[in-house]
Amino acid sequence: MGVSDKNGRVYDKKQAKFRQINRFLELISDIEDKLPENGTLRICDLCCGKSYLSFAVYHYFSVIKKRSVKMTGVDLKEDVIGYCSETADKLGFDGLEFIWGDIGLYETDEPVNLVLSLHACDTATDRVLEKAVSFRADVIMSTPCCHHELNRILKCPELSFISEYSMLRQKLCDAATDALRLKYLEANGYDTAAIELIDPDQTPKNILLRGVRRRTKDSPESQKAAGEYKIAYEFLTGKSLDN
Ligand SMILES: C[S@@+](CC[C@H](N)C(=O)[O-])C[C@H]1O[C@@H](n2cnc3c(N)ncnc32)[C@H](O)[C@@H]1O
Repeated sequence: MGVSDKNGRVYDKKQAKFRQINRFLELISDIEDKLPENGTLRICDLCCGKSYLSFAVYHYFSVIKKRSVKMTGVDLKEDVIGYCSETADKLGFDGLEFIWGDIGLYETDEPVNLVLSLHACDTATDRVLEKAVSFRADVIMSTPCCHHELNRILKCPELSFISEYSMLRQKLCDAATDALRLKYLEANGYDTAAIELIDPDQTPKNILLRGVRRRTKDSPESQKAAGEYKIAYEFLTGKSLDN
């Protein structure tokens, strides 16, 4: 994958990615008891890009844990998807497929156990979460990338003492965006956590959003979270969610 040389030495420029993937695997091992014990594990890596994470996770479950795995990586980049498909073939990773396309259009009839995403750009992380929720995935683990949307639409006089400073405005929007995402997952029946991925000195894109499905969307807890989401969104943007 271009991460290490033939002796297994990780290239200098790939050290950060290598650490991110290993940490992601550690965090996956923490939630293994939330996945079905038997049968084929169904996993999606949405916005998989060059798919370092997909290959590592597939290896972890199928080779190390000896599980049957069906895993799908989806990305908009045709050439990268071609490369990943060829690599999976060469490795004999029969249960690992790659699909070229927009994640918003990707569908599967099979129940999905785990949805992963590493650094899906800007609002692509929101599309990942929406898709994972629509699949009713057992577990969702997503590390967002840069955020811009809320910065564009923030309209909250009460927070202007922070947002008048452009650097603080971005930090405020980053935190609020991720908090809204977690609330969205809660409103859809998930228990949530925000977890540090790796040392923040290495990348500012360092938060992993985790959701573990526990309830239905109609449960009182989910409905309460949906109300809190609406209040928070409207407070931040000055826009009504009812329209
Ligand atoms: C920063 S890269 C991260 C790739 C990979 N997950 C990694 O960590 O190396 C973001 C990827 O998201 C993909 N992407 C963005 N929006 C997408 C969409 N709507 N559908 C599918 N892929 C998308 C881009 O093509 C790009 O490969």
